Amino acid sequence: MGPREPVYYGDYLQLDKLLDSQHPESKKVGSECHDEMLFILVHQVYELWFKQIIHELKSVYSTFGEESIEEKSLSTVVARLERVKKIQGLLLSQLEVMETMTPMDFLEFRDLLIPASGFQSVQFREIEILLGLGTKDRIAVDREYFLGRLSQPDREKLLKIEEQPSFLKLLEGWLERVPFTANKSFDFWKEYNKSVETMLSRDEKIIRGNEDHFGSKEMEGQLAYLGITRKTFESLFDEKIHNSLIEKKERKFSQKATLNALFILLYRDEPILNQPFNILTALMDIDENFTTWRYRHSMMAHRMLGTKIGTGGSSGHEYLKRAAENNRVFVDLYNLSTFLIPRSLLPVLPDSVKKELDFHFS
Ligand code: HEM
Repeated sequence: MGPREPVYYGDYLQLDKLLDSQHPESKKVGSECHDEMLFILVHQVYELWFKQIIHELKSVYSTFGEESIEEKSLSTVVARLERVKKIQGLLLSQLEVMETMTPMDFLEFRDLLIPASGFQSVQFREIEILLGLGTKDRIAVDREYFLGRLSQPDREKLLKIEEQPSFLKLLEGWLERVPFTANKSFDFWKEYNKSVETMLSRDEKIIRGNEDHFGSKEMEGQLAYLGITRKTFESLFDEKIHNSLIEKKERKFSQKATLNALFILLYRDEPILNQPFNILTALMDIDENFTTWRYRHSMMAHRMLGTKIGTGGSSGHEYLKRAAENNRVFVDLYNLSTFLIPRSLLPVLPDSVKKELDFHFS
């Protein structure tokens, strides 16, 4: 390689292009509205951070696309997911900057933006699809908005991404391959079910013991709830019920993946399960952060628009609130808490399994 030209700050960052990319519509039609510059810049900063999030997710995605994943790659995955979480922190706090614009200042230029809308953020949709929220995963009313407001090339680009398995799918495949519960000499789930029975019988005893305190009607009610909990546990071990819940879109992961994820959560303290546990936790954090952002964004839209419709033609904050409630990816991981049991009741693992889960310096 020959001598290189000295790198110059503005050239390296292409600031000519970047800083010449803010062109308020209000200026084009007469007099510039002061706050439109803020509106443009905040959106642009979001799009830049979306680009970085996609960059991180794609790298995590390619790791999970491999047939087997080395332990050290898991540390990189955790580090990248942690970075996404930090960026999400910025995305959330940026809404405060946006909210320094008052609804009346917004009204000065809002009509000039119709029909443009956040619906057309291709990168936001790409993040959703990459994680596992494709067109089919939306409630019917959102499907029209999901890709419907996009230009043909943008729609085609996203549909192409949708053809690949989502990260949720790759994660499911990886969870299915977790080996530790398939030990011939030790039926882990039989032992686990014994512990569950101990826990539920204990709960039943406590409820019955409180009859004097609550009265028999209240006691019957509580026993009925306990019966529902029992059934939920049963549904986890009955593949037919589990699959019917998948069909009803109440569960996403296969039974095998679900059970293995539960095993990771239960035995998170075992060294080899520590990074997988960190990954599952980071994914729940990321899901939760997007949900929080969606809620905050819907509150902001309410504050700016009242009950007016959005520039993209949706019902405005009502639509956004519904999207916040429905558009979650890793709900199955949250629901696994239903099946956690106290550490004191965890089945003791035989030495042969324990050895596989351990690593130590000697
Ligand atoms: C004054 C500020 C804002 C208002 C009043 C507002 C309002 C809305 C409304 C009403 C929608 C629903 C679609 C529609 O009918 O247009 C929407 C969607 C959206 N907005 Fe905003 N928005 C604002 C700022 C932002 C910012 C700063 C971002 C950052 C990128 C953003 C990103 C999005 C996205 C991604 C969607 C699609 C959400 C989905 O379909 O789940 N918005 N916005």
